[in-house]
Parts: sequence; structure tokens; C-alpha cells
Amino acid sequence: MSAVIVPPRLRLGVNIDHVATVRNARGGALPDPVRAALLAIEAGADGITAHLREDRRHIRDEDMARLRREISKPLNFEMAATDEMVGIALHTRPHACCLVPEKRSERTTEGGLDVRAGHNHLRVVTAELNRAGVRVSLFIEPNPVQVAAAKAVGAQVVELHTGAYCEALRAHEDAAAERRLHALQDAALDACHQGLEVHAGHGIDYDSVAPVAAIAEVMELNIGHFLIGEAVFVGLPAAMARMRYLMDEARAHAPKRGSGHVAELPKLKRVKR
Ligand code: PXP
Repeated sequence: MSAVIVPPRLRLGVNIDHVATVRNARGGALPDPVRAALLAIEAGADGITAHLREDRRHIRDEDMARLRREISKPLNFEMAATDEMVGIALHTRPHACCLVPEKRSERTTEGGLDVRAGHNHLRVVTAELNRAGVRVSLFIEPNPVQVAAAKAVGAQVVELHTGAYCEALRAHEDAAAERRLHALQDAALDACHQGLEVHAGHGIDYDSVAPVAAIAEVMELNIGHFLIGEAVFVGLPAAMARMRYLMDEARAHAPKRGSGHVAELPKLKRVKR
């Protein structure tokens, strides 16, 4: 009989990009995204994510340098796999780099990386970052082709794109949300079997978090836009505490790996604010 594996505590990474979006709307230095990162850590964040986009629309180079100097928790440097960004990452030496696709015209990261098509380039970038002691995470759609491709390029982590699932749930398309959730569950299991660490993120809010948190193979959620928006009303520590509670509750009631139970979908439910 195989051992029952209790999933470890799920880490919460807080993405502070949108504090910088508000700052940049007026120019100047306020609100300071590094202050938000420090507050998030004080409130229990397990790591901080920041995306240095090519167009510097939110996070700027000096934010990344300050984050690296000033925060005590792992820095997850989200970036496109361009020569410029790889150069900055090698200089910054964050805990991890999360490689994402980037289009100038998009409002946010719209889809996952096509790792299979980008194999040759991503393999070189991954090796370069790994040689500098930086873990590499690839932001992918939850499908087996991309999981296998991520393994083939030598990444340590895959971050599964939860955007399509969250959007379907928000649009009350429950059948589509369930399909998307199944894809996330399957991809998480597949990646875990291949020895990849599994993270998930994009578009997560109080309503969508529980079913993702209940996937035993997922080790970390990265959440930004919703938490920063909610912080306007209740403050960042309170918004994070509510998210943490929902994550922990879902995790506590998740089917254990190896328990012999077929994993059932937790009820998709909407959370009262
Ligand atoms: N993970 C990745 C790879 C992302 O690109 C983003 C958005 O910047 C997030 C997580 C966080 O998404 P959201 O801001 O929608 O919570």
C-alpha cells in the first residue's frame, strides 16, 4: 500500500506590480512598491513577485534592485526571456526567475509560454540562469505538451496559468470552469510526476482560490491584482489574511495523495466579501 501524502503548506507569493501601476499613474515615488512588499512579508507572504516588463509600465529597474536588497523573503523576478532581461536578472540574482511571454499590446500576461516552440532559446536561458544559482520557473498553460517541454528545457518549476479558469468562474460559466480546473489538476499531477515543482497563478480572487489551493501538487500561489485592489478597501494585511484562510481551509480538506480516494472537485462557490 502506498503512503498517504499530506500536502505541504501552500506558499503565498504576493505580486506587487500594481502598487507600481498606481505610482506610475502620477509619476514620482508614491505609493512605493517596496514598502508594499515589506508590508506583505510582515503580513505573512512567503515570497514577493515583481514583473519587469520591457515597457516598464509598472515595475522599474530600481524597484527590482531595491527589492533584491531590502526584502527578506524570496524574490520571484518575472520577465520575458530577452537578452536585456536575462542580463538584468544575472546582475540582480533573485531567488527565481519566472519566464513569461510578453506582448506590448496586452494589458496583462495573456497566455502561457509556448515552451515547445521556444525550446532552443529557453534551454540556453534556463542554463544561464541556473549557472548563476537562479531557479527557473516557466509560466505555462496547463497542458501535457507544455509540461513535457518545460521538463525538456531543464526548468525547476512550472507556474500553471489559472487565468482561463478564473475568467470562466467570474463569467459564471461553471462547466467551462470545471473543465479548466480539471486541466490544472491533470497538469499539476503530470508536472509533479516529472519532478517539477508546481506553482499556479493569474486572476485568482477569493472566489477562485479554493479549488486551486486544494490541488495537492501545487506548492505556491502567486496573487497580485485582486489582493492589491482589495487592499484599497480593507488593507493589505486583512486582504492577505482572508486569502490565507481560504487557502488553508481548502488545503485542509483536500484529498490526500495516495489515499485511494479519487480526487473530487471541491464545490465551486462564491465567497461573500
Ligand atoms: N503569475 C504570473 C506569471 C503572472 O504573470 C501574474 C500577473 O502578473 C500573476 C501570477 C499574478 O496575477 P494576478 O495579478 O492576476 O493575481
